[in-house]
Amino acid sequence: MTKKKRVAILISGRGSNMASLIEAARAPDYPAEIVLVASNRPEAAGLDRARAAGIPAVAIDHKAYATRMAFEAKLHTTLLDAGIDLICSAGFMRMLTGGFVDRWRNRQLNIHPSLLPSFPGLDTHARALSEGVKIHGCTVHFVRLEMDTGPIIAQAAVPVVAGETADSLAARVLEAEHVLYPHALRLVASGAVAVENDEIVTKAADLAAAQQRPPRPLVWPPVRIEARI
Ligand code: GRF
Repeated sequence: MTKKKRVAILISGRGSNMASLIEAARAPDYPAEIVLVASNRPEAAGLDRARAAGIPAVAIDHKAYATRMAFEAKLHTTLLDAGIDLICSAGFMRMLTGGFVDRWRNRQLNIHPSLLPSFPGLDTHARALSEGVKIHGCTVHFVRLEMDTGPIIAQAAVPVVAGETADSLAARVLEAEHVLYPHALRLVASGAVAVENDEIVTKAADLAAAQQRPPRPLVWPPVRIEARI
């Protein structure tokens, strides 16, 4: 296998997606290794969770920096020092400026709890319910300056069921996220998908290799997708 991509995960909170990436990357044939976790919030529970899994975890407290750019400069050099190839943002709640986004263009992934381009931003589950959508889900995409935009790498659909609440929907979407993110990172790290002219292109040979171990069906719960009425 070609050299594994060195991945840093950016978090701000509990880090359940981070944990799913760390777990997936333990597989010998996984094309990426998680070498660093960084949080802008020192109190993020995910930091201890990463350390317990044996991954170096650092807090870079954005409040300790006078400007957004000074914070990002520190983050950038930390990533360079660790020899990072790819960044996975996973519940990282800090807006990034164009300088940082450009430096990591097509090398930074993010997971968002909706089927983008629907419901960018916060409170996605409550908004999806109040709009009455029947299919919700989650998206992994490359990061661009505008929040929750960028070429889409993979999505998982989560049907809305009777009696749904924002919490029940969030729980099922999160379960889907934990399968989707390792799948999407595998696609990128293996070279099965890449960005050309700001669009996702799939490389057939690599795709076959990357999908040797298919994830569980990307529909939660695994049902046949039909018209939802
Ligand atoms: C996830 O729902 C993710 O999609 C969103 O923030 C949440 C982070 O959860 N961006 P966790 O920290 O990974 O548990």
